[in-house]
Amino acid sequence: KRLVILISGRGSNMEAIVKACAAEGWPATVAAVISNRPDAAGLAFAAQRGIATAVVDHKAFGRREDFDVELARVIDGFEPDLVVLAGFMRILGSSFTARYARRMLNIHPSLLPAFTGLHTHERALEAGCKIAGVTVHFVTAELDHGAIVMQAAVPVLAGDDAAALAARVLVAEHRIYPQSVRWFVEDALVWDGEVVRHRDGAP
Ligand code: GRF
Repeated sequence: KRLVILISGRGSNMEAIVKACAAEGWPATVAAVISNRPDAAGLAFAAQRGIATAVVDHKAFGRREDFDVELARVIDGFEPDLVVLAGFMRILGSSFTARYARRMLNIHPSLLPAFTGLHTHERALEAGCKIAGVTVHFVTAELDHGAIVMQAAVPVLAGDDAAALAARVLVAEHRIYPQSVRWFVEDALVWDGEVVRHRDGAP
């Protein structure tokens, strides 16, 4: 299976997937790491691992749709079986999400459906949550609403500020994103309508 990973910055989730894929001998290769920002730190990591990199700078496009079309063109050049959004901070239009339906994942730093959108840790603290967490889900046209693949619960500790909680959640991200991608790569994860089920049909 061929993976294309999209990043916008640090790329620590991309790094975790690249390392797991190599260390655990997945039946997959990371065909490319693509960023919408030329200065994304993750590009250097990918390049030094000999992974193809590309930049589609959203600032170079007047219209979102034009950016999405060019991004899809570059992605398709690597013939992915799965597109992985990893800290990718652009909202993608419905024709783009339709093009990659059932084969595009995202990681969101909250226990969806709680706290869709941004600033999830601040909002969880504000709400007095005792449990926070992270979600890996399929990407659909509706932001942060696709079928959930995997979640991890992360405790909120006394005295936590957003940075402390984010750091604790990030550790969980680096555990469940590689596991989610591997599950898809090993053909054990089929998205049929809204229900994620194993290839053998078990829920
Ligand atoms: C992470 O918190 C992730 O949940 C969110 O973007 C942040 C940056 O992740 N999607 P990364 O280090 O760029 O992978």
